[in-house]
Parts: sequence; structure tokens; C-alpha cells
Amino acid sequence: MFEIPTKNIDERRQGEAFEGVQIPVAAGKRFYIESYGCQMNFNDSEIVASILQQQGYGATVNYTEADLVLINTCSIREKAEQTVRNRLQAFNTVKKEHPGMLIGVLGCMAERLKARLLEEEKLVDLVIGPDAYRTLPALVEEAGGGQKAVNVLLSREETYADISPVRLDSNGVTAFVSIMRGCNNMCSFCVVPFTRGRERSRDPESIIRECRELFDRGYREVTLLGQNVDSYYWDGTLTFAGLLARVAEIDPLLRVRFSTSHPKDITDEVLHTMAQYGNICKYIHLPVQSGSTRILQLMNRTYTREWYLAKIKRIREIMPDCGISTDIITGFCTETEEDHRETLSLMKTVGYDLAYMFFYSERPGTLAARRYADDIPEEVKKSRLAEIVELHRQRALEKMQQEIGKTCLVLIEGDSKRSAGDWCGRNDQNRMVVFPKAEGTGKGTYVQVKITGCTGATLIGEMIKA
Ligand code: SAH
Ligand code: SF4
Ligand code: F3S
Repeated sequence: MFEIPTKNIDERRQGEAFEGVQIPVAAGKRFYIESYGCQMNFNDSEIVASILQQQGYGATVNYTEADLVLINTCSIREKAEQTVRNRLQAFNTVKKEHPGMLIGVLGCMAERLKARLLEEEKLVDLVIGPDAYRTLPALVEEAGGGQKAVNVLLSREETYADISPVRLDSNGVTAFVSIMRGCNNMCSFCVVPFTRGRERSRDPESIIRECRELFDRGYREVTLLGQNVDSYYWDGTLTFAGLLARVAEIDPLLRVRFSTSHPKDITDEVLHTMAQYGNICKYIHLPVQSGSTRILQLMNRTYTREWYLAKIKRIREIMPDCGISTDIITGFCTETEEDHRETLSLMKTVGYDLAYMFFYSERPGTLAARRYADDIPEEVKKSRLAEIVELHRQRALEKMQQEIGKTCLVLIEGDSKRSAGDWCGRNDQNRMVVFPKAEGTGKGTYVQVKITGCTGATLIGEMIKA
């Protein structure tokens, strides 16, 4: 299968296990966890790590020495599930030499396939859905006793509000904080409502507490996470805009980001709140999926092309410098060449800073799988995707070039990947900026950087002396 490698929030770190976590290894057992999918899934792994730590488990980054090997899975596209199957094979090869080892599947694939994972694959001892992580210790015990253990019950209330995630793979500067779970939207292509259940918001006090603790520990940026953050709602009074303001007020030095916004739900109130607070980053991930109103209707996105474009206009009226990114699915059921042209023209009109581009992958049980045939041949999907990617690459490069000569505020996240003599960090609009280190700067500090050049994905600059 051909799929463009992306730096998507939901696939950026796909395949990577965490490294460098400082969980003391108790005399007892060790766990290993590998995560796939969206940032919410990565954040769930941090909750699982916290639950296991309380049970006296230590972490290891080497699965061959683990007593409990966990894989937190994603079902969003077929390819994501295939990757997991391959990893399960690899784990089982090691298990043959370590008979006491337990292998558990967590997350969306566990929820989608349930006990079938135990029966079909025979590679798995535990299957645990996203709302059942509190029962993990009991299930591990059950599985240790030789029984196959499963809990895939979805909940209407669970938000793990009281559990402090153990930060895995952290740079110590930026962190993700889940503010809600589930999704009620039922986009016809999407498996998430089935794997994550009903939407529910997390208690704002626990969100604020977690963000404040992060700030006190030296973190300088939080990204508030949800499948549809704009429908956050607490106690009949607190909207997402209200929550954003409360998080922004923790400290002006704490940057606030959020993801993901559904175009139908992001309100003027949210846009004005963003404009009002200097520490709320001017960047919105606003997935369009398609530029054709007919396809958008089949996708059950509940907006039209015109409505989406009006929303973009509104964002730019309120925040002229706001970065905007998107997700696009090409080759959805019945998509014609004309529909495809409409997607290209919408991309030209908007000029996205970032885009995550996929071809349609039919997911069993979704509305689209039940209602429409997956009738666009793979070669057509591939060539349309290649065209979309190429157009985006050109537009994004133009936008990057427009930044040259400007000055921006950058939060230093760490060493540049290419050179230890350079820092890297992001500006307000979420663009990666690389620049030479200078005295008095370090991870977690803010600096003004003048942009002097760029590559397709990175701005290059020089620090301005204060
Ligand atoms: N809640 C987010 C998206 C979560 S999934 C939102 O509503 O925007 C991330 C992206 O994966 C989606 O925006 C969509 O572009 C893509 N995606 C979801 N289901 C897909 C499928 N069946 N095939 C291909 N891409 C899909
Ligand atoms: Fe899926 Fe749509 Fe919900 Fe996003 S909003 S998670 S695409 S159903
Ligand atoms: Fe996330 Fe994948 Fe599940 S994108 S919600 S881990 S299906």
C-alpha cells in the first residue's frame, strides 16, 4: 500500500517507542509500551504508565527484557492495523524464549476487534479498550494465571481525570493534556466513534491542576487534546473558549495550543479568546477532508465548501497571522475528477501551512462501509494523492519563503536534530525554527529569532540580542 509518510499529529511518532523515561525500576516487574495513532493515544499510554507505576512496575525501552509488553494501537486506516500485526509477530518471537512474558493490546484496535484478537491472532494475552485502563492490573493478574483477559467496555464517564500521566518520551518543555474523550460526530469514513465511544468532557479543575503542575515542573507549552475540542462543555456553563482562557491565565509564560477543531464547531468566541491572549498560539488545525460539497455531504461532515471557506475568512479577519493546517482524504467513495479538482482549488485558495494527506481506507462497520462502495481504484487514489501532496508542497514552500526577513518568538524545545550547535523550537504558528545557540539560552526559554532562510519544513534564523 502506498501512503505518504506524514508528520501528522496522529502519525508523527508512529512506530517509535518512548525513550529516556525515568521510572525507577522496582525490584519487581518491568513493562514496555509502544504507541501508535493520534496524540490522544500517546497520552493514554502515559496514563497506563502511571497506573502500572503505582503497581510497582518499572519501565524498559527494550521489549526483550519486559515482563509485560503493551502495544497501544490505532485503527484509523488499514495500514495502521497491519503495522500492529507485524509487531505482535515480533513480540511473540521473543516470548517463545521468555514464557512468562505477557503481551497486551490496548487502544482502538483492541476496541474494534475485541475478543477476536485473542482468537484470530493467538498472539495476545490481554485485550483492553481505551476506557478500561484502570482494570489493567487486575487483568494482568488474570492473564498471569493463564487465562486470556479482556475488557473492552466503553464508558460514558471515564476521563482518567485524577490520574497524573507519567510523561514518556518528553522533551521537558511541551506536553499534551487530554480535555475530553470520544466523539459524537459520525463522519461516515471514521472508526473513532466506534473505538472511543461517546464524547465526554473532563473536569476543568483537573485540567487546570495538571497544566499548572506541568508549568511548575518547567514545562512551557501545553496542547489541549480532543477529537473535537470545540465541543468541550462542562456543567452547563464552561465552553471551550472559557477553558482556553482559564488555561492561558495560569501564566503568560505557558503557551497554549489545541487540537483538533471541527469546522462546524469552532466559534467566534474561541477565535476572539485566541486573539485576546498572547500566550494562546495563533494556529488552528481545521481538517477540511474534501473541497467538494457533494463529497462532504457523503462524508457527513455537515458543512459545505462555501461554509468552510467563510470560516477561514473569519479566522483571518480576527487573526490575520494565524497558521492553518488541514487533513485531506482523497479517493473517497464516488469521488470524481471534478470533485478532486475542487479539493485542489480549495487548497490553493486557503494556502495551508501544513496538511496531512491520506487516501481513503475503508473501515469495517463505519457508515461509509455500510452505505457506499469503495469504488475508486487504488491507482487513481495514488495519483490524486500525489497531485495533492505536490500542490501542498509548493504552496507551503511559498508560505515559508514569505517568512524570510520577519522576526518571531520561538520557544526552545531542544537541540536541532541536524546539529548540536543549533537550537530548535516552534513559533506561534507551529513552524519549526532552527538557529545557532547563544549564551543565556536553554530549553524552555523564549527567544526572538529573525528568519533568514528556509527549507520545505523548517525556518532557519538568527537570534536577536535582547
Ligand atoms: N477528530 C479529528 C480527526 C481524527 S482522525 C477531526 O475530526 O478532524 C485524523 C484524520 O485521519 C482525519 O482528519 C482524516 O483526514 C483521516 N482519516 C480518518 N478516517 C480515515 C479513513 N477511513 N481513511 C483515510 N483517512 C482517514
Ligand atoms: Fe472521526 Fe469525524 Fe469524530 Fe474526527 S470528528 S474523530 S473525523 S468522527
Ligand atoms: Fe487515535 Fe487512531 Fe484511535 S487516530 S482515536 S488511535 S483510531
